[in-house]
Amino acid sequence: MVSTCLLLLSLRYTPIRHTSTLAKVIKNRLNLELDSIRQAGTWKSERIISTSQSSHIKIENSKNDLLNFCANNYLGLANNSEIIHAAKKALDDYGAGLSSVRFICGTQTIHKQLEQRIAKFHQREDAILYISCFDANAGIFETLLKEQDYIISDELNHASIIDGIRLCKAKRLRYKHKDMSDLELKLKESYNENHDNIIRLIATDGVFSMDGTIAPLSDIKYLADKYNGLIFVDECHATGFFGRTGRGTEEYFNMIGTIDIINSTLGKALGGAAGGYTTGSKVLIDLLRQRSRPYLFSNTLPPPIVASAIKAIDLIENNPNLPERVHENAKYFRNEMQKLGFKILGDNHPICPVMLGDARLASQFADEMLKRGIYVIGFSYPVVPKDRARIRVQVSAAHSKDDLQRCIDAFAEVGRQFKVIK
Ligand SMILES: Cc1ncc(COP(=O)(O)O)c(C=O)c1O
Ligand SMILES: *[C@@H]1O[C@H](CO)[C@@H](O)[C@H](O)[C@H]1NC(C)=O
Ligand SMILES: *[C@@H]1O[C@H](CO)[C@@H](O)[C@H](O)[C@H]1NC(C)=O
Repeated sequence: MVSTCLLLLSLRYTPIRHTSTLAKVIKNRLNLELDSIRQAGTWKSERIISTSQSSHIKIENSKNDLLNFCANNYLGLANNSEIIHAAKKALDDYGAGLSSVRFICGTQTIHKQLEQRIAKFHQREDAILYISCFDANAGIFETLLKEQDYIISDELNHASIIDGIRLCKAKRLRYKHKDMSDLELKLKESYNENHDNIIRLIATDGVFSMDGTIAPLSDIKYLADKYNGLIFVDECHATGFFGRTGRGTEEYFNMIGTIDIINSTLGKALGGAAGGYTTGSKVLIDLLRQRSRPYLFSNTLPPPIVASAIKAIDLIENNPNLPERVHENAKYFRNEMQKLGFKILGDNHPICPVMLGDARLASQFADEMLKRGIYVIGFSYPVVPKDRARIRVQVSAAHSKDDLQRCIDAFAEVGRQFKVIK
């Protein structure tokens, strides 16, 4: 019996020469693509950190401390001792993980607590957790929008929003970055067939991660009201530290509670572990729990991460001045760099893109900075448009004045070496 099976199997799988040709074709193609990435100077190699995430780190094969200027660790909470303690306690009380999605047996007391804390933090009715904000963005548009609807999106929106939009059947319109007259044109276009059963959803990052620019939310709100639209904002680079008490771009524009849907991440300012969420009206969150695929078909957030996020919200709510430090640091860095003659993109945000243009220059510049003990990364295509390569410096509340000055001095030295500044 066994041998008959083997014989049958070997008969079925005879076309070996065919598969090996196919394997060769695939290998050639992949090698070609990899070579083209190397030649374009856009190869991304990962540096391996051997310490916890913080403003001072070590990387493998280097004895010296490095100053880290590329984490989204805006409030310096990634290695906060209270957060670490809360995570350890949750590990003891609730275990390492749930081995389940939420609706089967993956919801614990702390998951509901965190959702309520997030909703309250943003002054919304409810919130839903995801394993990442990428998943939150992947899940929302398909769930909310149907064929007759419109999704109107800023051209520089994050990849996760773009991918989320690709999954939905609504008609897609795109407006120029932060361009309100272009947004109005697109809203007018969608308004031609106006009836009650159409949703027109404007989607934008609150703060744009590659440029450090801020969506003009009050203008967007004005247009949304005029053309009967809803607004979705991705607050990954704002939640916890942007706006006076860290409530994000809404608070920055003094309009808390007016945006229809907010997605954000636990993976940046809120402790930096992982996890994302959508917050908004109860009906929206109810529907996402029923229909959103990354929620229905993916594991629940591990308890230590949930507890660390609850603790991060505690810290931010109980220390309303916590965001101040990161903004003072950002202001200082931006001013000093501009005085030196560097071109810094963006608006008063701790994301400070130092524009260099050429991809290879950006990557060599970052290597030279590393030799001086400063860890920064060059960003190039496809993360940013071609010929718009840059070093994205991210300032944190954890940086001291001395840390900032060392970074600025290294930029001055390397900038002169490459003739980027005089
Ligand atoms: C604007 C924006 N949205 C979404 C994400 C994805 O967040 P997460 O890491 O939680 O998947 C990121 C992360 O890079 C981001 O910058
Ligand atoms: C976190 O990092 C900062 C800066 O590198 C350091 O001063 C602090 O001691 C670290 N905290 C913990 C709990 O390791
Ligand atoms: C984000 O918001 C959209 C709705 O605009 C939603 O479909 C999606 O599930 C939300 N979640 C995440 C993690 O972004």
